[in-house]
Amino acid sequence: MSHQPAAHRYDNPALYRACGRSGLKLPRLSLGLWHNFGDVDDPANRRALVLRAFDLGITHFDLANNYGPPPGAAERNFGDILHGELAAHRDELVISSKAGYLMWDGPYGDWGSRKSLLASLDQSLKRLRLDYVDIFYSHRPDPNTPLEETMGALAHAVRSGKALYVGLSNYSPDQTARAAQLLRELGTPCLIHQPKYHMFERSVEKGLLAVLEREGVGCIPFCPLAQGLLTNRYLQGIPADSRAGHDPRFLKPEHITEGKVGQIRQLDALARQRGQSLAQMALAWVLRQPAVTSALIGASRTSQIEDNLGALKNLSFTSAELAQIDRILAA
Ligand SMILES: NC(=O)c1ccc[n+]([C@@H]2O[C@H](COP(=O)([O-])OP(=O)(O)OC[C@H]3O[C@@H](n4cnc5c(N)ncnc54)[C@H](OP(=O)(O)O)[C@@H]3O)[C@@H](O)[C@H]2O)c1
Repeated sequence: MSHQPAAHRYDNPALYRACGRSGLKLPRLSLGLWHNFGDVDDPANRRALVLRAFDLGITHFDLANNYGPPPGAAERNFGDILHGELAAHRDELVISSKAGYLMWDGPYGDWGSRKSLLASLDQSLKRLRLDYVDIFYSHRPDPNTPLEETMGALAHAVRSGKALYVGLSNYSPDQTARAAQLLRELGTPCLIHQPKYHMFERSVEKGLLAVLEREGVGCIPFCPLAQGLLTNRYLQGIPADSRAGHDPRFLKPEHITEGKVGQIRQLDALARQRGQSLAQMALAWVLRQPAVTSALIGASRTSQIEDNLGALKNLSFTSAELAQIDRILAA
């Protein structure tokens, strides 16, 4: 049951970067378990994804209370791998979870009250069979709970030993600046922010990235491949085994318009000129931002993780390439 990890998995120091102004290093690519880790997914593939990532030096795995299906299943299924094949390696891993989206019935199973966050963290720890997570996030801001209360709950999670660091997800620049100030005052500085950022969704460029740099908070963009759109997946239609083909809860076939595919084809041509796959170029593009610590990818097969790590061979863009990308995206 125990996994013999690849001996050379830590041989590339350039794979790791300090998260904001903290001492915690994260890999430039981290693996998210939002998709492909539910009870409906193949257990052998779930194991293969985590173990291949680990063997390639990816030390950070990202979860949330509600990842599944059903909600909670991803934490349980990851816990099985953690206590099975990876049982000897807990201290080599940075495991995150979150609370803030609907998880259980009644007034306490959602959003950001102290009651909801701390109960959800206890549930996550039970499913993961862990004493602590490395990072605990507020998954989204709660307009009906004082920010002081939500940040107080995060700080309490650290003080009680159930989380080592805390993070924010989906907070606006202003909310982030206020939350970072509160967390500093509470003695538990904000480690990281998890926003959506990819070529088709650039709102973080209008303030959030600057706030994160100023506050010394790391940034881990989620969906850097736009759920697979920014790869070769949809160049020739919608394959049956793709996310849009078999699990269209979040990436809907009707969003893959002719116009979008036209843009993806032009981006693919540019990537090939750079000697990269489109996925590699899309990842290099988010990683080029100084504020970005790690890009949080998903994968349905191990070959995608291998392909994506190839992005690190060329993270620089000429100004002409960046301008061409802007032109393609604006069309
Ligand atoms: N904080 C939040 O609110 C929030 C929200 C969403 C996600 N997240 C986090 O972000 C993580 C990543 O999200 P995501 O899975 O949407 O990320 P993504 O990296 O944008 O998309 C992943 C999908 O792209 C395809 N893919 C990946 N590499 C590929 C390659 N080299 N070639 C071809 N196709 C490739 C695969 O799709 P196929 O399945 O079609 O093969 C894969 O499942 C989640 O697991 C979660 O941890 C956080």
